[in-house]
Amino acid sequence: MLFDRIKPLDAIMATAKKRGLHRSLGAFQLTLLGIGAVIGTGIFVLTAEAAQKAGPGMVLSFVVAGFVCAVAALCYSELASMVPVAGSAYTYTYAVVGELMAWMVGWALILEYAVGASAVAVGWSNHAVGLLRGLGVDFPAAISNADALMAKVQLAFGAAPTPDLMTALQVGGWINVPAICVAAAVTWLLIIGTTESARVNAVLVLVKIAALTLFIALTLPVMHAQNFTPFAPTGATGVFGAAASIFFAYVGFDAVSTAAEETRNPQRNVPIGLIGSLGICTVFYLLVASGAIGAIGAQPVMAGGVALSPGSAEMAGRCASIAAGAVQPLVCSREALVHVLETIGWPALGRVVGLAAVLALPSVVLMMMFGQTRVFFTMARDGLLPEKLASVHPRYKTPHIVTLVTGAGATLAAAVLPVGKLADYSNSGTLFAFLMVAIAVMVLRRTDPTRHRPFRTPGVWIVAPLAIIGCTVLYFSLPLTAILVLPVWGAIGLLVYFLYGRSRSHVGRGIIDTMEEDKPPIYGVKL
Ligand code: ALA
Repeated sequence: MLFDRIKPLDAIMATAKKRGLHRSLGAFQLTLLGIGAVIGTGIFVLTAEAAQKAGPGMVLSFVVAGFVCAVAALCYSELASMVPVAGSAYTYTYAVVGELMAWMVGWALILEYAVGASAVAVGWSNHAVGLLRGLGVDFPAAISNADALMAKVQLAFGAAPTPDLMTALQVGGWINVPAICVAAAVTWLLIIGTTESARVNAVLVLVKIAALTLFIALTLPVMHAQNFTPFAPTGATGVFGAAASIFFAYVGFDAVSTAAEETRNPQRNVPIGLIGSLGICTVFYLLVASGAIGAIGAQPVMAGGVALSPGSAEMAGRCASIAAGAVQPLVCSREALVHVLETIGWPALGRVVGLAAVLALPSVVLMMMFGQTRVFFTMARDGLLPEKLASVHPRYKTPHIVTLVTGAGATLAAAVLPVGKLADYSNSGTLFAFLMVAIAVMVLRRTDPTRHRPFRTPGVWIVAPLAIIGCTVLYFSLPLTAILVLPVWGAIGLLVYFLYGRSRSHVGRGIIDTMEEDKPPIYGVKL
């Protein structure tokens, strides 16, 4: 009874045909789209958090996270080429495993996209504040992060008032105003119908690739082998813990699958776009991580023999108490790559890299929030969320209510939480969605073996289980709070489903609506 509601694949496919979006994207544009969505806060900021967890061993963490994404991307490719419609993992799961799991995936995607957008907004804030500082404008700490607020909350929950925590309370901030500004601005852009054009994306990809190439060119010549020892001061646990966090740096490649409808020859080009963008990002990430470690070292800050938790108030306090004028370790930096270049004597070029992040990160926020509105929108159209949410603004022709709800949530989270925690929460949702996609591929091979598969995951009986194992291992390598976020969020989701969605579901009521056919345009002005 619980698992019997499946949205017929043929209904979904018929819609896609009817909708007939112009197929204009080729493999190259898709790869650019993927790189545009992937390179962001992960590499520019979370490199420091990964170093705090794994030390130099974080290069292995990048390999592990990249591998899990690669096998997940191969599974995504099969479904994206078969079910080339919007809604991503939510739609695939609806067609294959049924409504309840689809709901759970859609609910988890809120974590991936909305919370992910908050994380990128905080990463942007770090760089904007740094850039202003470089120009001689000191943005007050009290309103540029939420470290003091975190310390206050920890103390309220009975944490011991350690010197690190008290320092965080004294010098940390209470609210992240720049992050609020960027998240609110992106929400506004989406409401008035802005989406990013392929051309703007291409320019921003160029900006990011140029910044990372500059970083690699400046750091590789000054690498010292001794900076790689001890290689894994926190052992395998640290390496996997860092992989679970740095996984965030790879998230976003699924943007390619949602563009499948607009792709020429999707069977060939979607997999190339997914795997191509992931492959290129992985190579850059490994070179950047090696450059950062080799140039200035990446040893974690310890307390009583254990590495302090990155993003914690204790860690912020400890970093703040490092004497002014002394060289800050990589793990303390809020803008890891800029910091490395400043430390090795290239402050001006460091600021150039910071400027690249300031210019490019808002587009990552935009793509993530846009992905969120699409998933919300599709869920509302299926009757699982109030249809009011899917209403379209009379003038802007955008789903302004879902956008406003998404934007408000993302802005609030960005205002009061540190980037590492947001990324970890986002990862817990993403890993669940990826896991479900891997399951869906295998289920569909069994239940519908003869259906035409434009792209077949090679060695699916090895690749999909590897994706499942990989996602599970990374999930359990997240910090405990992030592990708990998914079941708690999921329980709220189940409550909403059983109290609201289940009785109103279109599929449940026998309305097999082809969800896209009367879909209002959500594209408007192109940036
Ligand atoms: N992968 C994207 C980033 O690192 C989400 O910002």
